[in-house]
Amino acid sequence: MKRLLILSLMVFAISLVNGQKSENLALTPPMGWNSWNTFGCDINEELIKGIADAMVERGLRDAGYEYLVLDDGWMAMERDENGRLYGDTIKFPNGMKALGDYIHSKGLKFGIYNCAGFKTCAGYPGSRGYEYIDAQTYADWGVDFLKYDWCNTEKLNAEGAYLTMRDALYATGRPIVFSICEWGDSNPWKWGKEIGHLWRVSGDIINCWNCEVGHGSWSSWGIWKIINMRTDIRKYAGPGHWNDLDMMEVGNDLTDAENRSHFAMWSILASPLIMGNDIRSATPKTIETLSNEGVVAVNQDSLGIQGFRFSDEYGIETWIKPLINGDWAIVFVNMNDKEVKLYFDWLKHDIGDDVSQKFAKLKYNTYQIQDLFNNKDLGDTSTPLNARIGQHDVLMIRLNKQ
Ligand code: GLA
Repeated sequence: MKRLLILSLMVFAISLVNGQKSENLALTPPMGWNSWNTFGCDINEELIKGIADAMVERGLRDAGYEYLVLDDGWMAMERDENGRLYGDTIKFPNGMKALGDYIHSKGLKFGIYNCAGFKTCAGYPGSRGYEYIDAQTYADWGVDFLKYDWCNTEKLNAEGAYLTMRDALYATGRPIVFSICEWGDSNPWKWGKEIGHLWRVSGDIINCWNCEVGHGSWSSWGIWKIINMRTDIRKYAGPGHWNDLDMMEVGNDLTDAENRSHFAMWSILASPLIMGNDIRSATPKTIETLSNEGVVAVNQDSLGIQGFRFSDEYGIETWIKPLINGDWAIVFVNMNDKEVKLYFDWLKHDIGDDVSQKFAKLKYNTYQIQDLFNNKDLGDTSTPLNARIGQHDVLMIRLNKQ
C-alpha cells in the first residue's frame, strides 16, 4: 500500500514536471494592447492605468481587446533577496499585484514580459535559471499572459528553453497564455504548437508601409516586409496556436488608408491583434478602424484558418480566408501610389483553398457581398464587382453564403 502511494506520488510529481501548455486558451487569435511600439521602456503605473481606462472608455474592450501587456522595462534592475523579480518601485510604486488587480477590475487581463536569456533585450533581469520562481511570481500577481523574448540566450536551444518556461507556467496551475517571441529564427511554427499559444514570425515591426530599417546586426521591418517574409507557414496556425505578425502599428503615423490595410491584413492572416499605439490620444478614425466589428469577426472566426494571397495583378493584392458556415473574407489592397479601379468577375475566379479543402464554387453558389469598412451591401456574386480603391487603401468584403 505504502509502495503504491509512493509510486503514485512519483507519477504525480513527474506529471507536474513534464507539463503541457494551458489548454483551451487563445482558441481565436489573442487581442489586446502592448506598451512597446509607442513607449519602449518608458512605462509606469499612471500610464498603464490610463491605457486600461481608455480600453474601456473608447469601446476597445467591448470590441474584443482583452490583454493589456507590459513589455520590457517594468522590472527593478535586480532580483530581491529571495531571487524574485519585482516591479521598478519608482515606475510602479504600488507593485505589480496592485496593478494587475486594477487591470482585472476593468474586465481586462494582465500580460507581462520577460526573456529566456540572462537579461531582457533592454538589460533587465532575464528568466534563465529562474524560470520556476518567475512563473510562480507571475501567477501570484494574477498574470494571464506572458510574452517571452529571446535576447541574451547564447547557446540555448530555443525549443528547450521555451519548453522549460511552459512547464514552469503549467506547474503554477494558473492558465497563462504563452507568447513565444523568438523572431522566427528557429522555425517556432514547427515546434510551437505544443509549447505556446502564439509565436512571432519575424524581427520587430516598424511603422512604415514596406521599408527595412537596419540597426547593424538586425533590422526592423515594415508591414509588407513582414507579410511577405513567410509565405508558406499558414498551415501551422489554428485554434490555440497562431503565427504572430507582431504588435500592430495602426495609429502610429500611417495614413488612414494604410491603417485600414494593415488592420485588414493582420485580420485576414489570423494574426493576434495586439494594438501598439497610444489609445488614449488615438484619433476617432483610428479607434473606428481598430474596433470594426466585421473585420474583427474575420480575425476571430472560429475555424481559425489563416488567409493567403490569392492573386497579385496590376498592383492589387487579393487575399482570401475561408470562414465558418461557408462564408469567405476577401481583402483587395491597392499597392499603387494612385487610386485604381477594381473589376472582379466572380465567375472567372475559383475562390478556394487546397489546404483547408474549402471551395466557394461561385458558378453554383451566389453569395451576398458586404463591404466591411464602409458597412455597405455591395450586391451579390452574380455580377462582377466594380470599385475604386485609393492609394494603399483596401476593400475588405465578406461573402455571405445565401
Ligand atoms: C525584442 C522584441 C520586441 C520587444 C523588445 C523589448 O526586440 O522582439 O517586441 O519586446 O525586445 O526589449
